[in-house]
Amino acid sequence: MSAYKILLLPGDGIGPEISAEAEKVIDFLGRAGVASFEIERGLVGGAAYDVHGVAISEGDMALAQAADAVLLAAVGGPKWDGVPYDVRPEAGLLRLRKDLGLFANLRPAICYPALADASSLKRELVDGLDIMIVRELTGGVYFGEPKEITDLGDGQKRAVDTQVYETYEIERIGRVAFELARKRRNKVTSSEKANVMKSGYLWREVVTALHKREYADVQLEHMLADALAMQLVRWPKQFDVVVTDNLFGDMLSDEAAMLTGSLGMLPSASLGAADANGKRKAMYEPCHGSAPDIAGKGVANPIAMIGSLGMAMRYSFDNPKAADAIDAAISGVLGKGLRTADIKGDAPASISTREMGDAIVAELKTILA
Ligand code: NAD
Ligand code: IPM
Ligand code: MN
Repeated sequence: MSAYKILLLPGDGIGPEISAEAEKVIDFLGRAGVASFEIERGLVGGAAYDVHGVAISEGDMALAQAADAVLLAAVGGPKWDGVPYDVRPEAGLLRLRKDLGLFANLRPAICYPALADASSLKRELVDGLDIMIVRELTGGVYFGEPKEITDLGDGQKRAVDTQVYETYEIERIGRVAFELARKRRNKVTSSEKANVMKSGYLWREVVTALHKREYADVQLEHMLADALAMQLVRWPKQFDVVVTDNLFGDMLSDEAAMLTGSLGMLPSASLGAADANGKRKAMYEPCHGSAPDIAGKGVANPIAMIGSLGMAMRYSFDNPKAADAIDAAISGVLGKGLRTADIKGDAPASISTREMGDAIVAELKTILA
């Protein structure tokens, strides 16, 4: 069995705490003979800035390029509020996404049965919820030029961010959404603001044409992003696959996370284009951030991080069985009433980050026995 090369980037805040729990799962899968891994470690975000003066070093970028998958926990925090914009912690994450060409960000919002009462919505609205948000990740307002602040004198400045999308970018993310939908409930909701944005207008035109040309068997609907934000909390189970741009995808996925019980539940996969051998560059990371308010306390929820490892098993390591086992282990521990403090509900007491990691490994052991 050849070893999969994983670059582990724990980052900042709760990053190292949740990363350690994912490593426990990696170790266990290795020992159990499920897969063989070679782990390398690097620095990203504030942790990289403190050592190298940049949000990710060239050396770590090279490791990321060479890895079969990058597993990143979280970056950012108030400690780095004053650092120059170009080297702020988030710049490391954005460079990884851009330089690795990770245009497709898959953010599954699944409400595990045991958490149907932990959501901020009523049980009947979220029980059985399974939405896949497909967020475009290397374009849009995150990367469009110009992006600048100009001094106008007299104490006035002008800040500009630019939303840019080209046909090929919309087509390739649309394709990812349609392909995923075919393996799920065969429905895609494409979201933009075609009513006020040129990029939204083009988005709708391109998705409509792609659908007609190649995916007429999939149900397609268009929904303005503001309306989608509302529908997500009104009747979320109407959605199967949602495809949207970089910024709307960022916001809508945090909203969707809360439907599942906690922001600490949502994993993600960021994928590049397949090469001639069908291999894709990939990074896996929770949707949440570095949670500075609880960092260092040992109470963070490691499930999004461990779930991201599960997505790596599915999308990079061709091991859906291990991915299913990780999902089942998460579901299993939640079913036993185990909760970290972020998950609201009727659990008698919350457990620590480490206890949650240990419980998931123990559950996995039973599942894979
Ligand atoms: P956040 O996601 O870090 O936290 C929002 C809230 O959710 C906080 O109350 C936090 O305690 C809670 N939370 C998040 N993840 C949790 C977990 N696993 N377990 C328990 N509770 C959890 O968002 P924020 O506070 O707006 O941002 C903090 C920093 O994180 C910022 O610097 C931001 O740029 C960065 N950030 C990084 C990433 C990333 O690395 N992928 C993603 C989002 C935000
Ligand atoms: C996310 C985060 C990032 C984003 C930040 C930290 C750059 O919020 O991964 O959702 O905005 O994409
Ligand atoms: Mn976000």
